[in-house]
Amino acid sequence: MTLFRASVLDTPANPFTGGRLRSDDDCGLLVEQGVITARGPFETLRSTHPDEPVLNLREGILLPGMVDTHVHFPQVRIIGGLGLPLLDWLDQCALPEEMRLADVDHARGVAHDFVSGLVDAGTTTALVFGAHFAGAVDTMFEAADQWGLRVTTGLVTSDRLLPEPLLTTPERARAESRELADRWHGKGRLRYAVTPRFSLSASDALLESCAQTVAEVPGAFFTSHVNENVHEIREVASLFDGAAYVDTYDRHGLLTPRSVLAHDVHPTDRELATLAGRGTAVAHCPTSNAALGSGLFPLRRHVEAGVRVALGSDVGAGTGFSLFKEGLQAYFAQQLLGEQGLPLTSAHLLWLSTAAGADALGLADEVGVLSVGRQFDAIWVLPEPGDPLAVGLANAASANDALSKVFALGTTSDVGGVWVGGDQIAAGRWRRPRDR
Ligand code: GUN
Ligand code: ZN
Repeated sequence: MTLFRASVLDTPANPFTGGRLRSDDDCGLLVEQGVITARGPFETLRSTHPDEPVLNLREGILLPGMVDTHVHFPQVRIIGGLGLPLLDWLDQCALPEEMRLADVDHARGVAHDFVSGLVDAGTTTALVFGAHFAGAVDTMFEAADQWGLRVTTGLVTSDRLLPEPLLTTPERARAESRELADRWHGKGRLRYAVTPRFSLSASDALLESCAQTVAEVPGAFFTSHVNENVHEIREVASLFDGAAYVDTYDRHGLLTPRSVLAHDVHPTDRELATLAGRGTAVAHCPTSNAALGSGLFPLRRHVEAGVRVALGSDVGAGTGFSLFKEGLQAYFAQQLLGEQGLPLTSAHLLWLSTAAGADALGLADEVGVLSVGRQFDAIWVLPEPGDPLAVGLANAASANDALSKVFALGTTSDVGGVWVGGDQIAAGRWRRPRDR
């Protein structure tokens, strides 16, 4: 057992429906076998548990671990390819890199770089877009398992339009996916996600094989892309006899509460109603949408339609792993939308990057907030003394203001410690809590 002492911020209730930031300045969290078993004023917990070791994190802020609902493992080494719209970026940046993952040893190195990127950023749970090669997906599961991260991932499948080495058949996709799921789904903190790349590169036969795989792997997730770029949407419509993009998945029964579709920058109202009706979540990827010029995400329309929304970094079209940056960019996008935008507070940004992600991934009972009964997945925001964030936190007018400063100024270097299920898996770049 460990008694953590910290200034804790989290969002137990959805700020889009009236929830507020929960702020406990001198909070005690008792953690037993990875689970929070008591929470309250530190001195109260100290007096009832006088013999437990105390980990004092009062300097800085303790937040729930970040939850990234859309991030591509094969793209870690190509972050920063700016200046191209989606389909050109895929052709020139992403797909050539993804073909290199046919080599398992190369893939293992990429998986290592990728998982390090997640951990450094304080991401403790992720829905990871995998690779087109089963051997590469194995290396991703292995790396996540070694670090103890909560990762849901799977084989990316396509049977048209992409370069030949990235193509499969519906039968092979199903067989390889089943094999990977048999090996990894439900092992430790890992789960399987059935992952056609996008309808543009997936025939109806491939999508139908995806539906069969979902049915054969109880508890499996489904993830793909939707409505990201206007040219892409036009092409999808012409390939599917004018169908709406969302319907290309829905008519195979692929949209359920265990489905997450990335982007959805240009939905119709009817598509939003379908997503809401199915309980499918959308991964909003703000820096990617800006970098590729895909558009400004209509968050208000999603929220008003009742669609669940969480954040995704969309590495490597997105510009890094930090969900602080994604949160800030989400805020910017809503500001730029003017009257159509949904003004966001720091509580919204924390919700979107933690509890909303946990909800989208069906893990709301386990992670996303630092409440009794939840896993102790947490990050310690601890800027270096003198850093503008440290100065800002020292002078914050309120907890909401302090949290705004975290999103405005925070980077991966400010993550001073990362815990998953009570285990500390990273100690930040410049100091460890136990040294203090
Ligand atoms: N649509 C299909 N593949 C991709 C990808 O790798 N990144 C993004 N942003 N969109 C996609
Ligand atoms: Zn993506």
